[in-house]
Amino acid sequence: MGEVPPKRHTQFRAGDGTLLVEEVMGYEGFSGNESILYHLQSPCDVAEIGEFEPLVIDEWVPDTHVHRLTQTAPLQPLGDPVSGRRVLMFNDDVEMAICKPAADLDGFYRNGEGDEVIFVHEGSGVFETIFGTLPYGPHDYVVIPRGTTYRVRMDDGPQTWLTFHTPGEIETPDRYRNRYGQLLEHAPFSQRDFHPPASLETHGERGGSYELVVRARHGHQRFVLDYHPFDIVGWDGYVYPYSFNIHDFEPKSGRLHQPPTVHQTFQGPNFVICSFCPRNLDWDPLAVPIPYHHSNLQSEEVIYYVDGRFGSRAGVGAGALTLHPSGLPHGPQPGRVEASLGTTRTDELAVMCDTFRPLRLTALARELEDPGYALSWHGGARAPA
Ligand SMILES: [Fe+2]
Repeated sequence: MGEVPPKRHTQFRAGDGTLLVEEVMGYEGFSGNESILYHLQSPCDVAEIGEFEPLVIDEWVPDTHVHRLTQTAPLQPLGDPVSGRRVLMFNDDVEMAICKPAADLDGFYRNGEGDEVIFVHEGSGVFETIFGTLPYGPHDYVVIPRGTTYRVRMDDGPQTWLTFHTPGEIETPDRYRNRYGQLLEHAPFSQRDFHPPASLETHGERGGSYELVVRARHGHQRFVLDYHPFDIVGWDGYVYPYSFNIHDFEPKSGRLHQPPTVHQTFQGPNFVICSFCPRNLDWDPLAVPIPYHHSNLQSEEVIYYVDGRFGSRAGVGAGALTLHPSGLPHGPQPGRVEASLGTTRTDELAVMCDTFRPLRLTALARELEDPGYALSWHGGARAPA
């Protein structure tokens, strides 16, 4: 986007003759994906060094190991697009939070220790980033690579986001790609479904005061700049923020029930993110069109319910979050299998995150928990709807 010189690492000047500052932003030393950006001035330039505030997660260690249901719908708007992220579950690979930002960020933010995925349940607006402006709307996944300086301008109306932070990299699954990296024909999405920033605006403002918060070492380091940080004239490469709308995920059905694997959308280290979308169901006359019971021997399964009716359980509506942890089998609640027979279609919309290492919970998860859920398979305790 914008302008870049014909050869990298060569002199590149602005209209007034100023030599631009080239920055290579990349992963894995100089071996991973990278982009090259051209700044009006050095991105190292900070005018003031502010406080470092550690990020503290208020952990809850429950007394019991059971299936859990967390109702996030009652949460009220709070904070901004960063401070408003309220972590519910976490481990060393991923943090999952609900964010209902009440106000725009005052300054600019950069996650210096992880990639982010923001699933927009409700709301719209734009992510203004150093790579350009990325519009977002309902049911978009917004993927922001670490190192991206950004702020959010939200439209009016409610905003509800499910956010993920990982110290690893957010990727699409390897099995969807050919040996050159292009998405294969059988992948549930193609390159046209992924949207980079729509426009790039170069800010040359000098003077003034611009606050920048950088997440690093489990804390927020504050800086003050005396220039606008979106001073990019042009960039190219493979690292940039993008959006992908869940309705562009092409769901797969089979004659018999398909495993969650077919819903996989992203992968991170020791976790996956899957999209359950409206689709036709299994068409064999003897098919059972909802999941069989399964034992998560090595994974924890979190589902966030977005919209529609979820076939295998009652009592979960939009904003509900279930956790089926390792070591315990789970499956449809009493009566649901019988009720599902002959069903030809589902309108469920949900985001799942399976982690391969145990999840820890927060005090907020305790506060929002529905304590009856763990007994909901017992003796028809929760009559099927
Ligand atoms: Fe499951």
